[in-house]
Amino acid sequence: MIDYCSALRGRFFDIAAVADSPQEIAQHARYLEDGLLFIAEGRIAALMSWEEGQSHLRQPNDWTDLRDKLIVPGFIDSHLHYPQTEMMGAFGEQLLEWLTTYTFPVEGQYHNAGHAAQMSAFFLNQLLSNGTTTALVFGTVHPESVDALFAAAAQHNMRLIAGKVMMDRNAPDYLTESAEQSFRQTRELILRWHNHQRLGYAITPRFAPTSTPALLEAVQRLREEFPDTWLHTHLSENPQEVEWVKSLWPEHENYLDVYHHYGLTGKRSVFAHALHLQDAEWDCLHHSDSAVAFCPTSNLFLGSGLFRLHTCWHKQVKMGIGTDVGAGTTFSMLRTLGEAYKIGQLQSYKLCASEAFYHATLGGARALCLDDKIGNFAAGKEADFVVLDPAVSPLQQLRDARCHDIYERLFMLMTLGDDRNIAQTWINGECAWRRDTLEVAA
Ligand code: GUN
Ligand code: ZN
Repeated sequence: MIDYCSALRGRFFDIAAVADSPQEIAQHARYLEDGLLFIAEGRIAALMSWEEGQSHLRQPNDWTDLRDKLIVPGFIDSHLHYPQTEMMGAFGEQLLEWLTTYTFPVEGQYHNAGHAAQMSAFFLNQLLSNGTTTALVFGTVHPESVDALFAAAAQHNMRLIAGKVMMDRNAPDYLTESAEQSFRQTRELILRWHNHQRLGYAITPRFAPTSTPALLEAVQRLREEFPDTWLHTHLSENPQEVEWVKSLWPEHENYLDVYHHYGLTGKRSVFAHALHLQDAEWDCLHHSDSAVAFCPTSNLFLGSGLFRLHTCWHKQVKMGIGTDVGAGTTFSMLRTLGEAYKIGQLQSYKLCASEAFYHATLGGARALCLDDKIGNFAAGKEADFVVLDPAVSPLQQLRDARCHDIYERLFMLMTLGDDRNIAQTWINGECAWRRDTLEVAA
């Protein structure tokens, strides 16, 4: 007999094990047309076929009927900025002008704890209503921004990783600080929030151009003192940015070498974008066991470039998918996967549905070094998952009726789907959001 709190019956899809190639992903893909998920104390107790599972029920009718739904592991957004929610869709600029024209002024507001709290609540609602259960998030330079976000995420008992931005040059005065202050404030936030419930802290230097050597030395000291925190920054997103890094850091061989020199590569280091890398940088990412975040809608919106998925596999670099809100244009991981497919198409790379869903779930978990805790329905993992409505519009219903198998259905979801397809989002074994009320569940 399985000791369980709730049992859900429905269709289930996940990838049962981490993989080093798209072929391995396909081998580990698991689909249960009629499955039964047992949850106990916030964790997956078991996932089995209905036929096998029903004998474990306490009563024959002791299950919730979700047979018209498709249940997948919670989505993992491996890179985004919560304060930029209010500036999504800013017109006309590429990265560096976009930052000075739009981003910095908006981020300037987050010294105000009330504003930060209001935006944190809005942001978390966006994550949940899009089926995202874990995210790696930038705050602003203000500690208040991160306090507000962590406090809000703690209320949902979410597995969320975030950090205060660190910047000590090449930004407006109202967003810069001394390396020493940045060190002190980050250290205080780590002590306050890291490993509090399911929260984690990411040390967050914005990128090389807004960092002096003294700031990266401060980051290095923090990494050494707190080796199980994350390191989260940007890398090689835009050609002008890459040139700028060359002129600011002439003694370094390439962009990544700036971070590597200060010990900032490694396990739990996540570099957003990684679009214009030299071979040596890919090799360094691999050898240091670092991860990258592929942010399709952002890369297209800012005209930054095309992520090389094929090279990423070839070089065996861990990768997650990020929305990169607010350069990204959606919170929906379904839509983000659809754009990833199109970026693949422009390079003759066929991103199939099993690979795409892997990147958004277990692959993302691996990139964040959380694959022992989240990412699929393995027994013992934390019960974070999404209940998808496979067809919610007349067009989707028409298309769904013509799908022959789960892979066509998943591909249809990543091509035509969005937040309308998210029926419920479960966090730690509890339904945290449901579409029928359009609200965070009580
Ligand atoms: N590089 C440095 N800061 C940022 C940011 O806020 N967004 C993006 N997309 N790239 C960056
Ligand atoms: Zn970013």
